[in-house]
Amino acid sequence: MEDKIRALSDRALEELEKADTAEALEAWRLSYLSRKGELNSLMSGLRDAAPEDRPRLGQEINRLKVSLQEGFTARQERFEEERRSRAVSAEQVDVTLPGIPPSPGRLHLTTLTLRKICRIFHGMGFEVLESPEVESDEYNFEMLNMPPHHPARDMWDTFYLTESVLLRTHTSPGQIHAMLPASPKPLRVILPGRCYRYEAVTARSEFMFYQVEGLAVGPHITLSHLKGVLETFARQMFGEERTIRFRGSYFPFTEPSVEVDMDCILCHGRGCRICKGTGWLEIAGAGMVHPKVLENGGYDPKEHSGLAFGMGPERIAMLINRVDDIRYFYSNDLRFLSQYS
Ligand code: DAH
Repeated sequence: MEDKIRALSDRALEELEKADTAEALEAWRLSYLSRKGELNSLMSGLRDAAPEDRPRLGQEINRLKVSLQEGFTARQERFEEERRSRAVSAEQVDVTLPGIPPSPGRLHLTTLTLRKICRIFHGMGFEVLESPEVESDEYNFEMLNMPPHHPARDMWDTFYLTESVLLRTHTSPGQIHAMLPASPKPLRVILPGRCYRYEAVTARSEFMFYQVEGLAVGPHITLSHLKGVLETFARQMFGEERTIRFRGSYFPFTEPSVEVDMDCILCHGRGCRICKGTGWLEIAGAGMVHPKVLENGGYDPKEHSGLAFGMGPERIAMLINRVDDIRYFYSNDLRFLSQYS
């Protein structure tokens, strides 16, 4: 019996050492330590031993049991450790693999368009200025010849911060900001920037968008200067063959006022889907600065006259890139934005 115990001990420990998978460990446990395992059958064998030997043999078998159990736990822990370290080394970074290139980002289509517009006007001697997005009622309306209750205010509803402070509806108040410190010297500026309108968002109108305002004031500025400036712009922006026309219109801050049309870039005036069959595309509102606005800017309308215009860079970008919905610009969808650089 003692030989049997020793043989079992040797064999069990040897096999335990060799068990190197979770399945082998479990198989080992079942064959030695489970209810029907070899250790228990050894214990049942005590029955056949001489009664006086039984206590000693029983103790020996129990010692073996404890040692096998401890051996099993230790082997199990070592196995877990080996498994963890194998997993870590499998995860190790292969420094020879190509990296994930960092995305450097890109300029927004509006920014790209604004830069091009500014470059063109810069070439005609216009300086680039900025004026506040949060404006007073006085600058957004009154100084532009729209006193309280003027019906034209209906065209420019906006977001009010207080009764007299608002988000500007157009860049035209920039005309006053540009004129006041400069008057009465000749002036040539463009003012790009964000504008806001309280209106339904549709494919054609956003509650936030950009404008570029233009203003030139001097002793002999005429409507033909206005036409020359805008025609030069249209040709540099949309192609040398472009031609423009003025259509009579109304703005409180200009007199006379016009809408500026350009022959359609797609059908060259024959009429198509883009120009809705008219052959013309509207690209700006414009006019000669109203005498009252000149006065509000500190100029004497008998000595100076001015030309002014306002255009929407998103609309221009939409025409050039055939974008049919202005909402793409500010809905932060990279599938749209990453097409332009
Ligand atoms: N401020 C006008 C608008 O938002 C656009 C405009 C029209 C600007 C005529 C001008 C101008 O400077 O002369 O609808």
